[in-house]
Amino acid sequence: MCGIFAYTGEKNNAPELIFEGLKSLEYRGYDSWGIAARIKEKKGFEVERNTGKLPLKNSFAKKSDFAIGHTRWATHGGVTVENAHPHLDCTKKIAVVHNGIIENYESLKKDLLKKGHKFTSDTDTEVVPHLIEEYLRKEGFASSVRDVFNLLKGFNAIVVSYAPSSEIIACKNGSPLIAGVGKEEFFLASDLSAILPHTKKVIFLNDNQMAILGKNVRIFSLPKGRQLKPKIEKIDFDPEKSSAGKYKHFMLKEIYEQPKVILNLAKNYSTQIGRLSKVIKEAKGIFLIGAGTAYHACLSGVYLFSRISKKHINTVFASEFNYLEDFLNKKSLIIALSQSGETVDVIESLDRAKEKGSKIAAVTNVLGSTIYRLSDYKFLLGAGPEKAVASTKAYTAKLSVLILLSYSLIGKGKRGKEILIETAKETERILNDKKTTGKIKQLASLISKKEHVFIIGRGLSYPSALEAALKIKEVSYIHTEGLAGGELKHGPIALISKDTPCIVFAPNDETYNSIISNATEIKARGGTIIGISFKNSSVFDHFIEVKDVNEGVYIVQVVVSQLLAYYIAIIKKLDPDKPRNLAKSVTVK
Ligand code: F6R
Repeated sequence: MCGIFAYTGEKNNAPELIFEGLKSLEYRGYDSWGIAARIKEKKGFEVERNTGKLPLKNSFAKKSDFAIGHTRWATHGGVTVENAHPHLDCTKKIAVVHNGIIENYESLKKDLLKKGHKFTSDTDTEVVPHLIEEYLRKEGFASSVRDVFNLLKGFNAIVVSYAPSSEIIACKNGSPLIAGVGKEEFFLASDLSAILPHTKKVIFLNDNQMAILGKNVRIFSLPKGRQLKPKIEKIDFDPEKSSAGKYKHFMLKEIYEQPKVILNLAKNYSTQIGRLSKVIKEAKGIFLIGAGTAYHACLSGVYLFSRISKKHINTVFASEFNYLEDFLNKKSLIIALSQSGETVDVIESLDRAKEKGSKIAAVTNVLGSTIYRLSDYKFLLGAGPEKAVASTKAYTAKLSVLILLSYSLIGKGKRGKEILIETAKETERILNDKKTTGKIKQLASLISKKEHVFIIGRGLSYPSALEAALKIKEVSYIHTEGLAGGELKHGPIALISKDTPCIVFAPNDETYNSIISNATEIKARGGTIIGISFKNSSVFDHFIEVKDVNEGVYIVQVVVSQLLAYYIAIIKKLDPDKPRNLAKSVTVK
């Protein structure tokens, strides 16, 4: 989703640095970009904006000590050069980049239009520079930015530069913003990875804070503007390499990293698992929340805790949690699953739960992320950076943690580990067995020509079916639906016609006979059955073997589907790393 990078200092050529910073934010997903650099002699800004991807090399010719940049993921207004950030005021002396949604922008814009302001875009963002222009008539730069930010409704982060000043001002109450503190130079970014190549000293801006970066960093609380002592933290890890290496795409690299990720969790996380299971044991009323792929992991968690630990846990999409939170109290525990740690739906839910005094546990992949910092109990997945938009290794890592927790809760932590070790082995076999990958490619070719795909599973294979369907639709743009096998006859079976591909998860568990019956019902209506199972069946037209590795089988099923999704995208000549309309870090509601 939108990315921000800003720089002030004499040491570097700001536009060049901003360009590199934006490159490192590319993986978040964007559809246009822009840079505004202050040109001293002009007392204004040189702006470069465009739709599509950043060029390979920085084309900003002018030198500058002070610039802000943005990668945009369209919300208000289409993907056009005019809508790309930074946005300027009428005098062209104020430049603004923004993440989030200004919920009251229409009324603000109406007033500004009445006052004669000229708008050049359809964005909500553009009200900010024009409002600051108004406030600057009666007060200074910092108080103008503060007063304008206080007018905005919704979850927002803005970064503002004003040509006559050498300061950059940032305010936030939603999207992440991190300040980097260098020697006589300062950075601002929505992602730690963009700052770490320059400095290890950072300030994580909290909601309702304003930062002023110039000769030093000053932090103020909002709405009043009381000065706070900056909390500078030293990050002691290096930014990990972000190259796909020998793989053609990050998605493929991340799929192949999964055996290692699972093994790492099996072997090195006993203490963290023990700590979190103690918290779970003590809680009264537990909710697992997440979005998209992370929600599918939550749903698997409900089944795993029920089956293994005989424990009832609730789950719901994080975006629906606010409508279900009335019963929360001080003894409730919310376990948030989030790869990025920045998903706004999750953050909003956690804020509300905190207000009610409930405890928060977070299982995330990003150290220092908002959700990580918000939580009382922190669990890092250790899966390494996930760059492809479609989540793969973070999903299997979350499932691994849930399996370990479920067994730990009944004092059988060792059994959980054994299952994961077997799972890592079976995943490795699937990924490296030429016969299996060849079969997956063959099926990818068959499916790539279809308009609809159905995936069915029961019990723990139901969340797997949802996740497999999400992976295929995200990267191949083929309509794919994941269904609980028993629900077919209650409606969706009407959609089955001749040769409709239907993937059937049929593991060696209590669901086997019933799911095979469901597959037979589909076959009787002309569907093509692709069985993913521990043994072949006469109802399968195609078969991929996934060995019985107990609860680990629900991980391996999904790995097969991830690879299938990847190859469908490749056959359709699509970029699996950056699917259309999607973003890696979803920081708007
Ligand atoms: C799908 C995908 C998304 C994310 C969702 C939550 O492949 O990646 O559905 O799972 O946006 O993201 P996180 O886990 O970062 O909270």
